[in-house]
Amino acid sequence: MLAVIGGSGLTELANLTITRREVVRTPYGEPSGALTFGELCGRPVAFLARHGYGHTIAPHRVNYAANLWALRHAGASSIVAVASVGGIRADLDPGVLLVPDQIIDYTWGRKSTFFESADEAVHHIDFTEPFDATVRGRLLSAASDAGVDVVDGGVYATTQGPRLETSAEIARIERDGGDVVGMTAMPEAALARELDIPYAAINVVANHAAGKGSSEKAISFERIEASLQESMVRVRLVLGQLCKQ
Ligand code: HPA
Repeated sequence: MLAVIGGSGLTELANLTITRREVVRTPYGEPSGALTFGELCGRPVAFLARHGYGHTIAPHRVNYAANLWALRHAGASSIVAVASVGGIRADLDPGVLLVPDQIIDYTWGRKSTFFESADEAVHHIDFTEPFDATVRGRLLSAASDAGVDVVDGGVYATTQGPRLETSAEIARIERDGGDVVGMTAMPEAALARELDIPYAAINVVANHAAGKGSSEKAISFERIEASLQESMVRVRLVLGQLCKQ
């Protein structure tokens, strides 16, 4: 079963025929909300709003471990994460959709592994390619089938938040090779890998990152809001094709 984790601007899947909701208890505490089960183009899909259905859980407070554990418990065999980002690379203007292929992790203090019991053998995962190639490929062909432009590949820099970055921090992230900046890919992607659930993401550029383009002096939240609303229409079109594959 495909699972979708929705981010800012996507707290529900409009085209989902809802069959039931389930509050999953996990050994790691409460997920961000009940899982919503339904059908998208006749196929079963699970949906979870990463920040809660009322958008009340900040990125550093999301219980990523509980969310991933709950999705696996529910039978998720692949996960598509939707997340809004700031665009750093010059061609990544607000409104652009991107399927990232790499991650740099600047977060701290988040629970980032399931393997921390003292009496368990140390467990390392391979994370050379943090996103699953098959799910990425499905996203890219779904976008092509939907006639929606998406950028193939990019480095997602994950910051701690909840504040946005300074322009010096963005300049540093750019020197590090970051193309977009967001606050949620880590530890989400790593925890999915630990559970062996193929995971890929579709990013929506909501704003130019701090100090760049229209955000040279400040980031306008009204503009972010407006751009997200418009872009999520295209994300839904992509998801509407993804379920057919
Ligand atoms: N920085 C971090 N996270 C974000 C941004 C940003 O500029 N825009 C949307 N999510």
